[in-house]
Amino acid sequence: MQFLVAIFTVICSGFAHAAYLEADQDTTVPEDWVHAGRVSPVEEVELTFALKQQNVERLRELLQQVSDPDSDQYGKYLTLEEVTSLVRPSDLTQKAILLWLNSHGVTNCHTVLTQDFLQCLMPVQVAEMLLPGSEFHRYTRGDRSLIRSASPYAVHNDVSQHLDFVGGVHRFPPKSEVGKSWSGRRQTSPGFHLGVTPAVLRSRYNLTAADVGSAANNSQAVAQFLEQFYHPADLAEFMTMFGGGFKHLSVVDKVVGKQGGGKAGIEASLDVEYIMSSGANISTWVFTNPGRHESQEPFLQWMLLLSNISSIPWVHTISYGDDEDSLSAAYMDRINAEFMKAGVRGISMLFASGDSGAGCRHMDRGVNVFRPSFPASSPYVTTVGGTSFKNPYKITYEVTDYISGGGFSNVFAMPDYQVSAVNSYLKGVQSLPPVSYYNASGRAYPDIAALSDNYWVVSNRVPIPWVSGTSASTPVFGGILSLINDQRFLKGLPSLGFLNPRLYKLQGRALFDVTEGCHLSCLDEKVQGKGFCASPSWDPVTGWGTPNYPALLKALLEK
Ligand SMILES: *[C@@H]1O[C@H](CO)[C@@H](O)[C@H](O)[C@H]1NC(C)=O
Ligand SMILES: *[C@@H]1O[C@H](CO)[C@@H](O)[C@H](O)[C@H]1NC(C)=O
Ligand SMILES: *[C@@H]1O[C@H](CO)[C@@H](O)[C@H](O)[C@H]1NC(C)=O
Ligand SMILES: *[C@@H]1O[C@H](CO)[C@@H](O)[C@H](O)[C@H]1NC(C)=O
Ligand SMILES: *[C@@H]1O[C@H](CO)[C@@H](O)[C@H](O)[C@H]1NC(C)=O
Repeated sequence: MQFLVAIFTVICSGFAHAAYLEADQDTTVPEDWVHAGRVSPVEEVELTFALKQQNVERLRELLQQVSDPDSDQYGKYLTLEEVTSLVRPSDLTQKAILLWLNSHGVTNCHTVLTQDFLQCLMPVQVAEMLLPGSEFHRYTRGDRSLIRSASPYAVHNDVSQHLDFVGGVHRFPPKSEVGKSWSGRRQTSPGFHLGVTPAVLRSRYNLTAADVGSAANNSQAVAQFLEQFYHPADLAEFMTMFGGGFKHLSVVDKVVGKQGGGKAGIEASLDVEYIMSSGANISTWVFTNPGRHESQEPFLQWMLLLSNISSIPWVHTISYGDDEDSLSAAYMDRINAEFMKAGVRGISMLFASGDSGAGCRHMDRGVNVFRPSFPASSPYVTTVGGTSFKNPYKITYEVTDYISGGGFSNVFAMPDYQVSAVNSYLKGVQSLPPVSYYNASGRAYPDIAALSDNYWVVSNRVPIPWVSGTSASTPVFGGILSLINDQRFLKGLPSLGFLNPRLYKLQGRALFDVTEGCHLSCLDEKVQGKGFCASPSWDPVTGWGTPNYPALLKALLEK
């Protein structure tokens, strides 16, 4: 057998015949998690093994073809079964991993339909033997508790070539799903404010009462990973208060995962209430804290679920992000492959761009750089930024919401579909931050935007004003995309799938261009809190702009 070493693998000197899969993964424990001691050797931990897939390059090509309106393969999506035949790990890979696990007595495993993940329950002492270097400890934050290793793990050379990474060892859940400080951000806003409601959004984006879903098989979803839940009674009350004037649903069709008994969260309520207001009368699913075991990474868990259900909603909106620099390249590459798997099935993935503007990472010796967020920075998702009304008391044109996440990836190269748009921005914009703060050759985001400021939300039966963040704009845009899918289905056309290649070909037609305002960044002398600024056409603050529904529908209703 060959002892191949994967690209991101470094031979581990401490363990002969072992290799690190994620040598670049940040393993420091975030300061808000409290150490609660070493886990007993007999306690069970659940690990997720990401098996090496086949034909990932072919998958990438197929995604490009089915998403490019100028390709004769446009819209010719694959079923999950077809995706399986493409990416399923080789027999050698599957056998090597099973043999390795079985030889350690690990047999309690679940796979997914695409066969490229294996999730296994085992005592901690077994996990520590399988993964030399790892040492499992318990950490708590509030009433949440999980098991992680603060030291890097290796795997035996015989299996390192068959694995992308092992989940459930590192990576703590981010503090808030997006950004760090959005909830109730403007509770102190001065004076009277009507705030954003479904009626305000529908008016601004030119949705008439007739613009609701009616196609039989249309569906949309929100995914949530915090220990907080939407409450069906909140949704019903929200629709009673704010759902006048357009046909809508007031109940979620399907909840996948565990709905806890605890309090409803503002963020959870927001997603559901607003996707069901713009994507009105469309069947809606909620993915919430999926997974059977406490030690899991809920985001990864959700990715597995998508590969285990053959018929899932066409549009997913997710307000979740982590600092790109805290994640291993192996992990992000694999998550990208999962996004490609969704894209070739005709599924649209919309991620919030984050609520920290360009972000800020403090390096050594007082040097700062911007801090991109992942998956917002993935080239294989559509990323949604945020805006506010120019005159907050009126339905006027939109300007940058200073929190709107945006910038350039330090990991992923700029995808072809955006090269000309981004280069025009870099050449044409009046001023740019110092080049040392960002990487102008990386994937630039966001792609689009919507209002993100001063929303009304009903949570725990109470209407709450001044809720803001790109977690609001994302479900709003998602619902609008679902309405367009709906009209396409009625015409017998396929779903929009991965939108970006087609979106960038529109060159901003059918969107309201946002040209005013800058977002926030590092509070240092050099940039003084200012990141990038909006400009005519695409920019890394609000993307191409916000939806003008009738125009966007027209532009996306052919082919
Ligand atoms: C995938 O679905 C099958 C069938 O429902 C189930 O038995 C299996 O446990 C699921 N896999 C995971 C990883 O949850
Ligand atoms: C849409 O809204 C904009 C601004 O609110 C308005 O100028 C425009 O006429 C509306 N209608 C269409 C079809 O674009
Ligand atoms: C709402 O959707 C259903 C299909 O799910 C459809 O039969 C009905 O006509 C829609 N209502 C409106 C007002 O379009
Ligand atoms: C809806 O989906 C079901 C099952 O996937 C299928 O049998 C049916 O033909 C679909 N209906 C339409 C209108 O596409
Ligand atoms: C900039 O991005 C490219 C890929 O897009 C990457 O190879 C390079 O390492 C990045 N530079 C920094 C300083 O992160």
